[in-house]
Amino acid sequence: MEEKRIRIILDGDPGHDDAVNFMLACGSPRFEVLGITTVAGNQTLENTTRNALNLMQALELDVPVYRGCSQAMVREHIAAGDIHGKSGMDGPVFEPLRRTIEAKHAVNFIIDTLMESEEPVTLVPTGPLTNVAMAIRMEPRILPKIEQIVLMGGCYQLGNRTPAAEFNIYDDPEAAHIVFTCGRPLTMIGLDVTRKCLCTPEVIERMEKIGNRASQIFADLMRFFSSTQKKIYGWAGGPLHDPLTCAYLIDPSVLTVRRMYAEIDHGCYGPSYGRTNCDFFGRTAKSREANADVAVDVDVEKYWDIIEAGLRAYSR
Ligand code: BDR
Ligand code: CA
Repeated sequence: MEEKRIRIILDGDPGHDDAVNFMLACGSPRFEVLGITTVAGNQTLENTTRNALNLMQALELDVPVYRGCSQAMVREHIAAGDIHGKSGMDGPVFEPLRRTIEAKHAVNFIIDTLMESEEPVTLVPTGPLTNVAMAIRMEPRILPKIEQIVLMGGCYQLGNRTPAAEFNIYDDPEAAHIVFTCGRPLTMIGLDVTRKCLCTPEVIERMEKIGNRASQIFADLMRFFSSTQKKIYGWAGGPLHDPLTCAYLIDPSVLTVRRMYAEIDHGCYGPSYGRTNCDFFGRTAKSREANADVAVDVDVEKYWDIIEAGLRAYSR
């Protein structure tokens, strides 16, 4: 019997690694991708939306793309041009854009899709959590319709945007607070594991050899992404953060997760603003109920196998 497909909404700020996640999800028979929603994050909303459309066009994917929030809930927007370049997805060269955006706002799309859906839907955010938090606040009746939230963001160790905070959470800590306290099953895939998944030149070559359009886009994306990561952090390759979300949904054994209480530092602009404080050792477990499955380890070889299979799924 055919396995039931997981119904998902991809929410992100492409973004090199968001783009790879979109490729993985849209090409996989494990998912029914209901839509892609964009948010300001790595670059302006205009750029992240154009990047999503460029990718859909290049891969001839007809998944609808919805434009979301251009500003975080409270703070000013911070881009990551140093990592993702001017466009937010520098590297690949795309043909002039013909694909168009859907008319509906991303937040309304999330709300309507969930409210109209008979079965729950999984949300996969890989950017700042503004759209998801807005949808929860605008229509709390969507909550029981959320099967689970599997997100890339946060860290219980060191941050990448500040010493304390990871970029996606730092870009909208107030939204992250809403999502982390919404009461739905939540998996936090943070830098603690994504930093182990370095896209080295060997990995890029391995994927490029597949020889289809998706693998070429992957290589063009990752060459740029890895060069900026090397310059800023000294890594041997760019950590391929975002696709760990869909890789985990495809094969949960790729990650080891640990249930714990995770809380966002928000609402005051101290040095730890945007930090995901995770009670790794369960020291407050008596007074605070665990609200997240936090990724604590990753099978890196399995991850690359999933990525390779995802790229091979494209016939051209
Ligand atoms: C996250 O921040 C962005 O730059 C990446 O796309 C990823 O989602 C990593 O901190
Ligand atoms: Ca992202």
